[in-house]
Amino acid sequence: MSKESSNSPERIPTHIAIIMDGNGRWALSRGLPRLAGHRAGTENLRRVIEACVEFDVKYLTLYAFSTENWGRPLEEVRGLMRILEDVIDRELQELHKQGVQLRHIGRLDRLKPSLHQKVLEAIEYTKDNDRLILCVAFNYGGRDEIVCAIQHMIENGVKPDEVSDELVSQYLFTAGVPDPDLIIRTSGELRGSNFLIWQGAYSEWYFTPTFWPDFGKEELARALEEYKHRQRRFGHVPESV
Ligand code: FPP
Repeated sequence: MSKESSNSPERIPTHIAIIMDGNGRWALSRGLPRLAGHRAGTENLRRVIEACVEFDVKYLTLYAFSTENWGRPLEEVRGLMRILEDVIDRELQELHKQGVQLRHIGRLDRLKPSLHQKVLEAIEYTKDNDRLILCVAFNYGGRDEIVCAIQHMIENGVKPDEVSDELVSQYLFTAGVPDPDLIIRTSGELRGSNFLIWQGAYSEWYFTPTFWPDFGKEELARALEEYKHRQRRFGHVPESV
């Protein structure tokens, strides 16, 4: 979204990014295992993706597995890997029908080879869709992304005076994706957790106590309504934007 158009009263964020938090507490509050919360959170994806298509959001980024999540119990890590696999097996056709293009941000190299391959095939299969670009952050960390970008710049012989905001952006996993206008975090936690730390420099944040499995279309609409009334200044003074 251009800075000039960003204060129109009717504006819809071009790019929404979501930290889908609270699956574990959702499950525990019902006496269920944590993985049941992740499953419920996965069911919710369908509702939120459909709502984004309906509201004409162009990019949606979902934080599904962070570089720090490897530190969770093995059973939960395995469960989250299985969920990624199941989502591709069960939802890809429907996503394709809705015009969703799948992208991945993060590193795929630590995933088992068959899952790595499945993700690449899903990306290839949906690459010509343009109704909604769905970026799945899986084995993603903002610091890791910046380290990776610096490594690639050095490998490519980039000179110090060639390094600019624009160039760094081109070396990130999100190259070609506009910065998120709105970042949503569910479950009442008020922190960024290593998510899109470069790209989110001027994002608006929406925090809600709702656990992710209960965050549906209505609450997304509320977040969009609130966003409309935010004044984005990008470090300028109001008159100059
Ligand atoms: C945070 O809740 C959630 C996660 C670490 C995983 C999110 C994953 C999904 C919703 C599955 C969808 C996946 C794909 C492939 C798109 P938490 O476990 O930290 O909850 P807690 O803070 O209540 O313990």
